[in-house]
Amino acid sequence: MKAIGIVTGPRKGQVTDRLTESALDGLRDRGASTEKIYFMDLTIKPCRGCSACQRTGRCIIEDDFNAVADKIRDADIVVFSSPTYFSNVTSCAKRFFDRGYSMFKEFRFGPVYPSKKPGKVILITSCHAPFPFSHLLGIVTGSVRAMKAFFNYMHVRIKTLTATGAADFDAKKHAKLLERAYNLGKTI
Ligand SMILES: Cc1cc2nc3c(=O)[nH]c(=O)nc-3n(C[C@H](O)[C@H](O)[C@H](O)COP(=O)(O)O)c2cc1C
Repeated sequence: MKAIGIVTGPRKGQVTDRLTESALDGLRDRGASTEKIYFMDLTIKPCRGCSACQRTGRCIIEDDFNAVADKIRDADIVVFSSPTYFSNVTSCAKRFFDRGYSMFKEFRFGPVYPSKKPGKVILITSCHAPFPFSHLLGIVTGSVRAMKAFFNYMHVRIKTLTATGAADFDAKKHAKLLERAYNLGKTI
């Protein structure tokens, strides 16, 4: 079993990165081989909307996107994380989703995903706003909605984990969440 962790936030070692790592720990403990990718280390340019990908099946922009798309198509499980920025995902994550148009085939009522992998996805986000405002004001739910808008089209089984009231990572404060992330990786 192959699992890939994708961290789209810029802060290594902070909330969404740590939760991603815990989910990968859980996956490793059930025998999965894992890899973690930091978008901040890659170049993923914005989609040009040229739709060349709809003829070729690959994005024609030459940067790191296609290699990530290949890894996703090769993984059984994806752990995808983004901190919440203005009730949405990071611009890195959104650039990836737009370029991800190239992973789908024709559009009917929505894009058609031609691959069986990944079968399962864990979505992780965090925000500064405390619960219940994080949810009532659509803050953390905005990020979840944005991530699901992409991954739902892959017809994957989705589990989500949200950290609220989380300005910075705090090992003590976030111990329970780390455990939940680990268990998600272990059981999904
Ligand atoms: C550009 C920017 C925008 C943010 N927007 C929001 C927001 O709309 N609502 C919120 O509650 N927190 C917001 N935050 C706080 C982050 O979501 C929060 O600190 C998160 O836990 C950071 O995740 P990380 O530790 O993985 O970087 C924002 C932070 C930044 C830097």
